[in-house]
Amino acid sequence: MEFITVKTQYKKHIALINLNRPKELNALNLQLMTELKDTLKALDEDDDVRVIILTGNEKAFAAGADIKQMAGKTAIDMLNVDQFSTWDQIKKTKKPLIAAVSGFALGGGCELAMTCDMIVASESAKFGQPEIKIGVMPGAGGTQRLTRAIGKAKAMELVLTGNFISAEEALHYGLVNKVVPTEMYLEAATELATQIAQMSPVAAKLAKESVNRAFETHLDEGLHFERKNFYLTFASEDQTEGMKAFVEKRKPEFTGK
Ligand code: CAA
Repeated sequence: MEFITVKTQYKKHIALINLNRPKELNALNLQLMTELKDTLKALDEDDDVRVIILTGNEKAFAAGADIKQMAGKTAIDMLNVDQFSTWDQIKKTKKPLIAAVSGFALGGGCELAMTCDMIVASESAKFGQPEIKIGVMPGAGGTQRLTRAIGKAKAMELVLTGNFISAEEALHYGLVNKVVPTEMYLEAATELATQIAQMSPVAAKLAKESVNRAFETHLDEGLHFERKNFYLTFASEDQTEGMKAFVEKRKPEFTGK
């Protein structure tokens, strides 16, 4: 790995991925996104990992797609490489994925954070879709995910002005789960991950899939999908263990089976 670092056993059942191009504010070039996509796929297949945290550094989560790499490209180059489809691959991750964001989360960086399931932000985090300032527009989900997350009025403003919002504003608009002092953002993300890692990984995957379905379908279909996934949890040993432990007034031991 050249542009990311991976700790598979960062904590019990938790893997940590660090975007690691600090001099370029973690600008997301093609190689980095390929490493990230491949790593997430491998972690998804690793039975010991239940939750994944994706982070950058204090100054930048990621300042967007790599403008220097894109600058000389033609429309056909962009179409052929189809680099932004990587964000869709990342969305396919089945395990809970938490973005721990400090500093800049801009353009493709904001889109990457929004592709994760939850965002824990440091008070110095800044979110935005500034593509319009360089003569383009968001291309990896910004117009869709930001609008769903914070509503049309504010999303339109951010996409058309390129202005950033602070972590507190992002919390106010429902883009992030929590905002903590800068020195604590990874710790706070780890606490959240630790809580989820204690749950049944089978139920967590099915629940994640079901919540995401809410954005992709109408209510009846979503409810039907949810119910089927609920019934499917009864095929797991974790369901037996979870309910038995409740009756026996003890803590469940989930195995992911
Ligand atoms: N791509 C490539 N390099 C980038 C970059 C990017 N997105 N963002 C920052 N860098 C590089 C800078 O070029 C600079 O490199 P050099 O030292 O070699 O000059 C280095 O990172 C540090 O950046 P700055 O000196 O600019 O740092 P700053 O603190 O003064 O400003 C910033 C920070 C406001 C984030 C500014 O760097 C900036 O505006 N970056 C671009 C943000 C942007 O437009 N993102 C959207 C990209 S397009 C996109 O993402 C499309 C999509 O939908 C997927």
